[in-house]
Amino acid sequence: METLLSRLGFSFFLCLFLYCDFALSFSPVDNYLVNCGAFLDSTVDNRRFVSDSSDSTHTHLSSPQSFSLCAGTLLPSLPPIYHTARVFKAPSKYVFDVKDPGTHMVRLHFHRFSSPNLNLVDSRFHVLVNGLVALTNFSGGNSLGPKVIEYLLCVHSENLEITFVPAGNSNFAFVNAIEVISAPRDLIPETAQSLNGDEVENFEGLNLQAFEIVHRVTVGGAKVTPFNDSLWRTWLPDDEYFKLSEGSTKVYFSGKIKYQEGGASREVGPDNVYDSARLIESKNASIPNANLSWEFPVMKDYKYLVRLHFCDIASLSLGLLFFNVYVNGHLAYKDLDPSAVTNNLLASPFYLDFVVDADHSGIVNVAVGPSNKSMAYAVNAILNGVEIMKMNNLMGSFDGKLPAEMVLKGSPRRSDFLLPSIALVCLLLSLSVFMRRRIDEGDSVPWSKLPMDIPETTPKQGKQQLSSKV
Ligand SMILES: *[C@@H]1O[C@H](CO)[C@@H](O)[C@H](O)[C@H]1NC(C)=O
Ligand SMILES: *[C@@H]1O[C@H](CO)[C@@H](O)[C@H](O)[C@H]1NC(C)=O
Ligand SMILES: *[C@@H]1O[C@H](CO)[C@@H](O)[C@H](O)[C@H]1NC(C)=O
Ligand SMILES: *[C@@H]1O[C@H](CO)[C@@H](O)[C@H](O)[C@H]1NC(C)=O
Ligand SMILES: *[C@@H]1O[C@H](CO)[C@@H](O)[C@H](O)[C@H]1NC(C)=O
Repeated sequence: METLLSRLGFSFFLCLFLYCDFALSFSPVDNYLVNCGAFLDSTVDNRRFVSDSSDSTHTHLSSPQSFSLCAGTLLPSLPPIYHTARVFKAPSKYVFDVKDPGTHMVRLHFHRFSSPNLNLVDSRFHVLVNGLVALTNFSGGNSLGPKVIEYLLCVHSENLEITFVPAGNSNFAFVNAIEVISAPRDLIPETAQSLNGDEVENFEGLNLQAFEIVHRVTVGGAKVTPFNDSLWRTWLPDDEYFKLSEGSTKVYFSGKIKYQEGGASREVGPDNVYDSARLIESKNASIPNANLSWEFPVMKDYKYLVRLHFCDIASLSLGLLFFNVYVNGHLAYKDLDPSAVTNNLLASPFYLDFVVDADHSGIVNVAVGPSNKSMAYAVNAILNGVEIMKMNNLMGSFDGKLPAEMVLKGSPRRSDFLLPSIALVCLLLSLSVFMRRRIDEGDSVPWSKLPMDIPETTPKQGKQQLSSKV
């Protein structure tokens, strides 16, 4: 069985690998960056987040149940997108035109700041992304700093909808920024290996699944920020998850990472992830009897896509590195030979995908260690990066057992929760900039915010009314 797996893997790689070096940077067809609740655009790492307030072509669609909120104290160290939020008092949604069907990345940014009249810590809400339940009874993460939650989902409709549903009575939802970006075709392939105990099967239709990114780490290296990632992702250092350090070393490579077609592209993982790793090596005639191992806490009762990133940046020559890969204690790949996988090229990145269940303790365990083919005086195991992505359950949810219809039904009909004064202050503060912005603003904003389920009795308190008060 394991040899079959190895053979499958090898033939897969061998027929797909063609030498070529990618130089073009990725430019997504759909690329929506929204600065929620702000009256002006903000630029973060050369990316312009467009205000969702001053949308002159869509004022007829403005939601009377939402308003802008400014942080009471502005921390200069935080990107400006976290200084404002849009607060929703009734179910509301953003609708994005999808010009490029296929996998899309959706990032939701939350920062629970407090302002004089409203503390975002008091929020409680559900979020739906294109009919999937993304978050339930959520209150914006913790108060330590911004929380970014990322989803990957296949979109074949003309629109992608993100819905915020306040939970319970007198509660509210909020969001600080949203990104909706079409993903490169090769980010999620059609198949993966599914591990069920010692059984290995093909998992078909991987690219049609939806995922929530739970962990994304770069092994042995420094944090990789959106600025240094081709898809604007964040990769955290692995120290928190790494278990055994005895006899292992970190390695850093300053040469060129040789991306090849059929392997990992720069969009699958950036140079900064592949140029660092942890490894086990044999310095004398004996091969260490040890594994490198990582434990990732996850929510039980879900399946996870485990993506392991490899790049042999440490071997002195080809054909010296052989190792075993274990996921949740099971042999997932026996005698992995990076030289064979990469068509005999060192420093050439590739990845392996495994679909697994969380174990009963809510852990996904990943390990690499010497195999029976490992050699003395050579590197005996290596790992460069790990991504753990949660797959939605049968109810179409990433967060609980209630399907979207139930989540929507449980929302309050109406809440008496009026804070126009906050919005007014926010508006006054931003008015000058806002007016300046309107002068050079382009007409077409290709996404719109639509009110949903608006009760007839709701008093008007949209932007227009506030503006007239000013
Ligand atoms: C980007 O990567 C370079 C090289 O690794 C590093 O020196 C720099 O600090 C990084 N920049 C950011 C904003 O993370
Ligand atoms: C090889 O080195 C390791 C420590 O690096 C040591 O524990 C082991 O005894 C050595 N083996 C031989 C055969 O010298
Ligand atoms: C490495 O991990 C695998 C899977 O958990 C285990 O079977 C094996 O015994 C471990 N090897 C060592 C030397 O700990
Ligand atoms: C290594 O070889 C031994 C003896 O041939 C065998 O029992 C063992 O299962 C092999 N280990 C792995 C991980 O294949
Ligand atoms: C939110 O929490 C409440 C109270 O704990 C619970 O009754 C409700 O089912 C939860 N809603 C969702 C959508 O999980």
